Amino acid sequence: MSTARTIPVWPPIDDSTREWFDVGAPHGDQDVVVVGAGIAGLSTALCLLREGRDVLVVDKAGIGAGETMRTSAHLASALDDRFALLARMHGDDGARLAAASHAAAIDWIEDLAAGAADCGFRRLPGYLFPHDGDTACIERELQAAADAGLEVAWAEAGTWGFPASAGPALRFAAQARIEIGGYLLALAREVRDAGGRFLRAGVAEIKGGAKPRLDLVDGTTLQARTVVAAGNVPFHETGATYMKQAPYRTYVVAGTIATGALPDALFWDDGDPYHYVRLRETTDPARMQVLVGGEDHKTGQDDDPEAYVRLQAWTREHLPMVGDFREAWSGQVIEPVDGLGYIGADPDNENVWLVTGDSGNGLTHGTLGALLVTDLVQGRDNPWRELYDPARKPLRAGGQWLRENANAALQFREWIKPAEVKDAAEIAPGTGAVLRRGMHRVAVYRAGDGTLHAHNARCPHLGCVVRWSREEKSWDCPCHGSRFEARTGAILNGPTSEPLAPFELRDDG
Ligand SMILES: Cc1cc2nc3c(=O)[nH]c(=O)nc-3n(C[C@H](O)[C@H](O)[C@H](O)COP(=O)(O)OP(=O)(O)OC[C@H]3O[C@@H](n4cnc5c(N)ncnc54)[C@H](O)[C@@H]3O)c2cc1C
Ligand code: FES
Repeated sequence: MSTARTIPVWPPIDDSTREWFDVGAPHGDQDVVVVGAGIAGLSTALCLLREGRDVLVVDKAGIGAGETMRTSAHLASALDDRFALLARMHGDDGARLAAASHAAAIDWIEDLAAGAADCGFRRLPGYLFPHDGDTACIERELQAAADAGLEVAWAEAGTWGFPASAGPALRFAAQARIEIGGYLLALAREVRDAGGRFLRAGVAEIKGGAKPRLDLVDGTTLQARTVVAAGNVPFHETGATYMKQAPYRTYVVAGTIATGALPDALFWDDGDPYHYVRLRETTDPARMQVLVGGEDHKTGQDDDPEAYVRLQAWTREHLPMVGDFREAWSGQVIEPVDGLGYIGADPDNENVWLVTGDSGNGLTHGTLGALLVTDLVQGRDNPWRELYDPARKPLRAGGQWLRENANAALQFREWIKPAEVKDAAEIAPGTGAVLRRGMHRVAVYRAGDGTLHAHNARCPHLGCVVRWSREEKSWDCPCHGSRFEARTGAILNGPTSEPLAPFELRDDG
């Protein structure tokens, strides 16, 4: 099961990987258990296998079932959160380490891709341009990025690929793009060939200790010397992260363009929400695919099927030669309040390690997370340890921290608001709405065939009321981004560790 209904452009992961997974075995004592077979989990598994550790990768839905296969697959050391901001949050040394760590992740990916087919790794420049013609922001960023050690230069309007009306841009050298399906499969094969084992199982809880314990959804348990929680968002009991990061829904559309009409590069504007563009080869050498993404909003808030329309309109305005939009999809990114992932020891669980907080640079965050966690698990220090420490207090991000948590707290007012509809009869086929029944809020979905699927609308994480997503046809929690499948209430995204509870609708038939 994927985390969303819309389908990205990447060819799906080879079905034969299903056979690599044991179902219901093995239980008992393990050396290392990595939870999550996305880019973070598989990269960590491979690094630890190369250290001679015995690794079991546990995933509830198989390889690439999460956000990795919903990416647009830019590989950037020119980070989304910008170096002017990162230097303010983490100091000049922190900004330099952030740039170096993401560059090291791109190098690591390049190495692995070089030995495998279909990874489509390509080094490219990246261009950052102002969304509204005001160059003050990129002027600041030029200095900050150069101070952080990036190879960056000013590019005059009309010289860097977009029409001159888009203004000047900053040119970042040594960025990259990749075919994520091919790369993730290559990574998984490396894990298998290095002796890694795979288990298909949902993990309900991880409890730290001398030998951490994993409670599986099927009621059995695993024990391990070391556990790495790489399920994108921690779902186990740890207070380390959910107050310091926020979930955002993000959108991509794919159109086509004549080869050569736009330079093969990465492009981003500095808007909020921002937009980005990359190219991708097709089977026709005369045409390339253009991926255009952005229009992010907080998960469960501002449900927005219009985002695709706005992305297409933005593309037509800036790149009128792009046409033929055929694909569109959405996914979830996790924004840490101070711009960098939470990677390292779980402060609440001994011998448990976290990789989370992707901030739209999740492919590089997940990869550098693997390098960092491997050093720490193996008892070596690492220069990036403090920068990414999950226990850090984002004090310099105080305003943003307060805003995100005040926003989450505000969502509890849903409990006192009137229900969206009074009766299930008002719910059209293929849609959902929240009803009130006594003290309860009920999330009711009417399937295309007219059948009703009702669940308690109380999010099992911390009790917010879930909301209907018209776009992905799921129940999304506006507080910390847990998402649930409409028919079954099954978990699509954490931090919840429990599905929505079924609810019996007696009076609506
Ligand atoms: C539209 C979009 C565009 C993006 N563009 C870029 C980009 O250009 N560049 C970039 O660097 N990043 C980008 N990102 C971010 C990046 O793709 C993600 O941050 C990254 O892939 C996350 O990887 P992951 O391994 O942490 O998580 P995932 O890929 O989500 O993997 C987590 C895995 O854990 C499993 N799991 C979760 N919970 C449990 C459990 N309880 N028990 C068992 N298994 C569990 C899931 O099934 C899943 O397979 C983008 C993201 C989106 C959505
Ligand atoms: S995700 Fe925290 S309350 Fe729903």
